[in-house]
Amino acid sequence: MKNFYSNIYSFNTKVLKKTTKYLNQGNLVAIPTETVYGLAGNAYSQKAVKNIFKIKKRPKKNPLIIHYRNISDAKKDVVFNKNFYKLYKIFCPGPLTFILRQNKKSKISPFATSSLKTVAIRFPKNRIVRSILKSINFPLAMPSANLSSSVSPVSALDVFEELKKKIDIIIDGGSAKIGIESTVIDLTGKPRILRPGFITFNDLNRLFKLDLSNNKSKIKSPGMLKKHYSPGIPVILNKKPKYSDQAYIVFGKKFRNNKNYFNLSKKANLKEAAANLYKTMRKIKKKGYKKIFVTKIPNKGLGLAINDRLKRASK
Ligand code: TXA
Ligand code: MG
Repeated sequence: MKNFYSNIYSFNTKVLKKTTKYLNQGNLVAIPTETVYGLAGNAYSQKAVKNIFKIKKRPKKNPLIIHYRNISDAKKDVVFNKNFYKLYKIFCPGPLTFILRQNKKSKISPFATSSLKTVAIRFPKNRIVRSILKSINFPLAMPSANLSSSVSPVSALDVFEELKKKIDIIIDGGSAKIGIESTVIDLTGKPRILRPGFITFNDLNRLFKLDLSNNKSKIKSPGMLKKHYSPGIPVILNKKPKYSDQAYIVFGKKFRNNKNYFNLSKKANLKEAAANLYKTMRKIKKKGYKKIFVTKIPNKGLGLAINDRLKRASK
């Protein structure tokens, strides 16, 4: 079966041309970013945006992140403020997503924002997504390239596993460097983290005091409310498996090299653990295990994002 993966492409100028042609026509492509792989389409095109929701089977109420190459392009769609500029200078391009008020003149399809008055924007750092953004004249609406509620893909093969041939182009950019999604911060009021991610609470809290209230009446990240990041088999937290046909996700050097043990980081390094998290969950599922047990992961720094994903996976 020579052409089994015929929609997976290595990146080169020819593929860049094909990709921009697809995007210009309102079609979708899957591309690598530094966090996870994304399913990308023209954020100004209703056809493209609607198709993203359809392919992912994503609830219409869960808005998308809009990706830009630079500030001046983003300025057409959102209203910046002091906190934004402060964070942009330090973290961008990179794995931080800002919730800002939408500019009245914005051309973003209302389907992308689920008709909210706010927009989630991000400036990705990965070389491939940046060269694509530089070759088109619209921003990219781009959720993670997985079926809704499943684990985010961190390689081109992961994307293929999720979406098969529902899209014509999957660009192979190797393993996503970070392996966990961007941090989402709401800047429409007192800064508030809506989704923990690679940029940690401490990274942000030393710049300004974050709003820690969990006020349910305020809009939260709609996508954060439901079961998410599920590998498709039960995930049980803070418990050891009883039998060897149950997988055990572990962390740190005190664990043995048992066949059913999957160590996120022997060195107990949280960055390494984050990069291995989704990869490991997929691997375990593929090996045929029926249950995943997970040891306790330190709940500080990047551990907050890892535990957030594990908790949702266990729902
Ligand atoms: O790292 C990432 O952020 C990846 C890469 C591909 O950029 N993208 C990603 O997108 O994780 P997605 O669609 O899987 O997650 C977007 C999150 C959801 O939780 C969604 O509810 C939230 O951002 N979001 C989007 N627009 C929002 C808004 N206006 N207000 C609050 N939350 C919003
Ligand atoms: Mg996602």
